Amino acid sequence: AQGDVDKGKKVFNKCKACHMVGDKAKNKSGPELNELFGRAAGSKDGFKYSKAMLAKGEDGLVWNEETLNAFLTKPKAFVKGTKMSFAGIKKQKDMDNLLAYLGTFSTA
Ligand code: HEM
Repeated sequence: AQGDVDKGKKVFNKCKACHMVGDKAKNKSGPELNELFGRAAGSKDGFKYSKAMLAKGEDGLVWNEETLNAFLTKPKAFVKGTKMSFAGIKKQKDMDNLLAYLGTFSTA
């Protein structure tokens, strides 16, 4: 997308306490985020999601630029009942950069 990958890597510092990406990524307190684009919500094997996130996936929510924008702007508004404790990304520039960075770990 239009974001800056290197700047996005810095934005991802906000996520790192709970999420991993890259070669050695595994689930921590949040699911690993490799191959995120095109993935159904709540579908990473071995991660224990909230009922709210599982229901979203069953309803057909798939992660892409648009849905990640909405979720990461206000997680608890977009997925009511999510157990992701994160206030949200406020600046659209930060969002664009973050999504560009996450996109480098997805082939979709
Ligand atoms: C879920 C991204 C910050 C904990 C998710 C999901 C995404 C995501 C895309 C859904 C994944 C899926 O459906 O497999 C991010 C990004 C962050 C961030 C990009 C930073 C901007 C955090 C932080 C925490 C956290 C700081 C911990 C304090 C979780 C948890 C879930 C989750 C527990 C599962 C939610 C549920 O089952 O309701 N995150 N996250 N995340 N994240 Fe994050």
